[in-house]
Amino acid sequence: MTVHFIGAGPGAADLLTLRGRDLIAASPVCLYAGSLVPEGVLAHCPNGARIVNTASLSLDEIVAEITAAHADGKDVARLHSGDLSIWSAMGEQLRRLRALGIPFTVTPGVPSFSAAAAALEAELTLPGLAQTVVLTRTPGRASAMPEGEKLAAFAATGAVLAIHLSIHLLDKVIAELTPHYGADCPVAIVWRASWPDQRIVRATLASLDAATATEMERTALILVGRTIGAADFDESRLYAADYDRRYRPVGAEPRFPEAS
Ligand SMILES: C[S@@+](CC[C@H](N)C(=O)[O-])C[C@H]1O[C@@H](n2cnc3c(N)ncnc32)[C@H](O)[C@@H]1O
Repeated sequence: MTVHFIGAGPGAADLLTLRGRDLIAASPVCLYAGSLVPEGVLAHCPNGARIVNTASLSLDEIVAEITAAHADGKDVARLHSGDLSIWSAMGEQLRRLRALGIPFTVTPGVPSFSAAAAALEAELTLPGLAQTVVLTRTPGRASAMPEGEKLAAFAATGAVLAIHLSIHLLDKVIAELTPHYGADCPVAIVWRASWPDQRIVRATLASLDAATATEMERTALILVGRTIGAADFDESRLYAADYDRRYRPVGAEPRFPEAS
């Protein structure tokens, strides 16, 4: 018996890995984390599977579901939205399973920031503008931020920020970021990226109406940085005709002659 932790993707049912789909189809028990896991993903569960929405369960109750499946020798598909490496609460479940000696696997998923960037048709790292993306959030009722992980500290680097779990604090986010990025810095809000009712608002830090937050409650990402919607940026040197590299040696004395 194995518990398969599976990143269920950002919303669109076909943004699930083939491995994730096959593990769901082979598991007679499916525990999924609330409304962010789409029904189309649950449709891969086998007939007669026990399917439990864990949104209202405590960690102890979730572990009790898993230990019951373990006692019955039944594999469990454990679904969390997006990818498992960020804000999935997988860490605490793995710690419990390790202590109980229950085997598990981890299958990644498409994170919501990737789906939001795709919706914006954006490369977040553009030469000369930004080469770093920070995945972050503001403090919540259940999660304080460690000292040092302040929005302003990340903003001081000029990196692109993908701010999760914070749409309800949009006015504070704008106020905190504007002194660092400038009022003309582009910002995009992507609400329910990849879902059929996906919505996008593009603005600058100055023009963004904080009331957007009330229209786009909860499942939204705030993306801030100079690469959002940028048209004026350098081309990457990698594909420049005169750039000598391993797979495309250039000139009389290429740097990697053995590859030519
Ligand atoms: C608990 S976190 C889960 C993050 C998830 N593990 C991931 O990989 O993206 C939930 C937050 O992720 C963001 N989010 C999740 N799905 C989203 C989507 N489809 N569109 C926009 N933001 C989304 C929102 O900021 C939301 O408040």
